[in-house]
Amino acid sequence: MNIIVILFLVSCSARTTKQERRFPDDFLFGTATASYQIEGGWNADDKGENIWDRITHNNPTVIKDQSNGDIAADTYNNYKRDVEMMRELGLDAYRFSLSWSRILPNGLANKVSEAGVAFYNNYIDEMIKYGITPMVTLYHWDLPQKLQDLGGFVNPLFPEWYEDYARVVFEQFGDRVKHWITFNEPREICYQGYDTTTKAPQLNATGIGVYICAKNLVMAHARVYHAYKNDFAPSQGGVCGITISVNWFGPKTDSEEDQLAAELTRQGEWGLYAEPIFSEDGGFPKELSEKVAQKSIEQGYPRSRMPEFTDDEKAFVKGATDFFGVNHYKSVLISATENLKEHVVPSFYDDIGTGTYVPDDWPASASTWLKQSPDSILNALTHLKDKYNSPVIYITENGWSTSPDAGLVDDDRIRYYRAALESALDALDAGVNLKGYMAWSLMDNFEWFAGYTERFGLYQVDFEDPARTRTPRKSAFVYKQIINTRVIDHEYEPSSMTMTIDEGH
Ligand SMILES: *[C@@H]1O[C@H](CO)[C@@H](O)[C@H](O)[C@H]1NC(C)=O
Repeated sequence: MNIIVILFLVSCSARTTKQERRFPDDFLFGTATASYQIEGGWNADDKGENIWDRITHNNPTVIKDQSNGDIAADTYNNYKRDVEMMRELGLDAYRFSLSWSRILPNGLANKVSEAGVAFYNNYIDEMIKYGITPMVTLYHWDLPQKLQDLGGFVNPLFPEWYEDYARVVFEQFGDRVKHWITFNEPREICYQGYDTTTKAPQLNATGIGVYICAKNLVMAHARVYHAYKNDFAPSQGGVCGITISVNWFGPKTDSEEDQLAAELTRQGEWGLYAEPIFSEDGGFPKELSEKVAQKSIEQGYPRSRMPEFTDDEKAFVKGATDFFGVNHYKSVLISATENLKEHVVPSFYDDIGTGTYVPDDWPASASTWLKQSPDSILNALTHLKDKYNSPVIYITENGWSTSPDAGLVDDDRIRYYRAALESALDALDAGVNLKGYMAWSLMDNFEWFAGYTERFGLYQVDFEDPARTRTPRKSAFVYKQIINTRVIDHEYEPSSMTMTIDEGH
């Protein structure tokens, strides 16, 4: 009797899982990479210097292993192998970024590099040949050094330079590329690069840089979006969005103070970039703007350190996107009263003024900032759905790091991906308009200030080997199985570690 009941329950739940917990057939499964992290060819042909070439060459001690991306995974010479890996995995899409100074060696659009354009044409053509949808990021952190010398993102002319570059890109590649992402992770560009020293160009203009950069970046995004919609989309027929890092910041307790603290944190961490584009009112987030304005006056500034948007600018930016690209890795709990730290005054974190908390029992990766957090994707995406009237969302990055000596059997990465994809299914069940998922990353690459000491690849790359040989990890087989079946089978074990290309790819 008992056995029968148990069997009945098991078969019931198995049936529910198989029939309902399925990714739609048109859901885009892919992987993601970024130009500086994989390409190499740093001075190939007439490519110009960018801010990561500059910092790694002139100031190598900021990189944990004093390495650089001069060669990286050498995609510049291995792009056909990259596409072969996409075919092995059975990817629907591949997200990668363009190196601005490879296309425009001077940064400005007076000279277009034939060799740079040819490289991307070859890469894109190879994907198209095998039915893989290219999803192209225009900017993933490698600003031409010549533009940085003029101030980069805080020069008021930045949006013009960026539009000039984007028009060249749309002209050259828009016949084949239909998914465009303007910027990758504005917070990491503006906060880490301009407000502090944890990314190039290490400007360290604390409490000032992040806000000027944020406004220029958002204006630049909107200019490029309108340029694309007006002058390219009518004939090319693609979509254009932006990718923002939206980790989940939830209150540590249900108290009103903690809830407000979590809201202020969300406004600073991603609202600065999302709110002007996706909100009804437009402009920077309300509570944070008020707080920064008040602090600025108290600190003796004649006006707020956070610039404002004029009404015309608000109208220009509002709704200027076809989708919300979400890079998501983790959750952090936010407290109004606990774990408060001393911060430099003025600074971004002094402005926000909240404490962070991460439970000890959340599994740790090889990266200090990354722990596996429950319901993380569900919480973040349902929040965006409710706040911004259900935008089309693509998860444009999500992934897990292991140490360089961890080898090919990466069961902890598999555990992370399975949990993340279950959470994505929860979000789909909750009505989130989620259209795709790009795993970070296709292969090991140069992890910014961590150099090659943290590995995010479904494929391992041998950086000692001049050929930069790529070898699939166990997680590659598991991801392939999920893409192929559209179902997460927690029991699945690859029968061997040999990759093949299935028919149709
Ligand atoms: C950044 O600037 C702050 C002052 O705003 C200073 O205290 C800190 O030492 C600087 N950091 C670096 C790495 O230069």
